[in-house]
Amino acid sequence: MNKKKIALIPGDGIGQEVIKQGVKVLKTVESLDENIEFEFTDFPWGCEYYLETGKMMAEDGLDQLSSFDSIYLGAVGYPTVPDHISLWDLLLKIRKGFDQYVNLRPVKLLHPGLTPLKGKSREDIDFLVIRENSEGEYSGKGDWLFEGNPEEVVLQTGVFSRKGTERIIRYAFEEARRQKKKLTSISKANALNYSMVFWDQVFNEVATDYPEVETESYLVDAASMFFVREPERFEIVVTSNLFGDILTDLGAAITGGLGVATGANINPEKKYPSMFEPVHGSAPDIAGKGLANPLAAIWSVAQMMDFFGEKQWSDKIEKTLEDVLVHESELTPDMGGKSTTDGLGDFFCLKLKELK
Ligand code: NAI
Ligand code: MG
Repeated sequence: MNKKKIALIPGDGIGQEVIKQGVKVLKTVESLDENIEFEFTDFPWGCEYYLETGKMMAEDGLDQLSSFDSIYLGAVGYPTVPDHISLWDLLLKIRKGFDQYVNLRPVKLLHPGLTPLKGKSREDIDFLVIRENSEGEYSGKGDWLFEGNPEEVVLQTGVFSRKGTERIIRYAFEEARRQKKKLTSISKANALNYSMVFWDQVFNEVATDYPEVETESYLVDAASMFFVREPERFEIVVTSNLFGDILTDLGAAITGGLGVATGANINPEKKYPSMFEPVHGSAPDIAGKGLANPLAAIWSVAQMMDFFGEKQWSDKIEKTLEDVLVHESELTPDMGGKSTTDGLGDFFCLKLKELK
């Protein structure tokens, strides 16, 4: 019996609405597979909690979460709470506190109609971006000297430790070997003469341990162009925190946008729980109206199943996403459909059952 404890943090706005659909999918999986059991625990954290208590999560929040196998998060953000508070005091606290140093973002076209790229098919756009998620350009280190004076100087430091750089690159090589795919490193050593020279050096060093993995290296500017013009060049991509942040939004743009973009924050050693979440935010403009597209949150469930070692279920959920996307009227309005968040969630579960 594969029994997993899942912490639910639906958060704010449409986070609540889409996580509800993801839980329906998890319960459907549970009902179809007698060897899988989930135990859900709800955590009411987020901006509403902040407005009541002055905190985004409980004081001992990380302790409370530490015994779970995974965290399933909707989105946080509320118009009356500054975004840096909701981001740093919940999301980043979890990502950093649980050393979720791998960010996995599939760039996979689930339906040909979803890409704005002319002449690109589903075979052309199918890769995985592995983004460094713990240091690099987003280390938060730097200085602000002579603030407000004419001599003002601002320093924003990129931190690339040997440990941090090597572990993300090694993770990517392991994944490329496991999937028998080409690995592309994206950096910028011509301009960033310390950090990215180091990145390239570590990439080449680690590569010697994986002679069977085919590798390529691109500068980030050239890579951005190829994401659009020739996405078929990529199979697995490894890149730094900042480059990965930008490139994965570009990846989302060529595969259907926020309604279908997912991301996993992984602690590969499983010392701490990993976190699965749709990429989109709390969308206050459409919250509470049943307009939110739940497919991104459902794709997160597929990533969670893969992480749990239930590959057959992550494959089935992805296959069902493809099936569902063919039925345009059953989709939410952002995809040209007439259905609601709940309606699409139910339709998805129906299709998942049919697949069995
Ligand atoms: P957003 O992703 O919430 O919304 C951007 C636009 O896309 C909106 O027009 C929204 O209606 C639409 N949209 C997003 N997800 C959708 C879905 N599933 N179905 C249909 N339409 C969808 O980003 P925005 O507006 O910049 O931020 C709103 C709040 O969310 C802010 O407080 C922000 O800080 C927070 N946020 C939180 C994130 C997280 O928790 N991981 C990520 C991004 C933003
Ligand atoms: Mg981003």
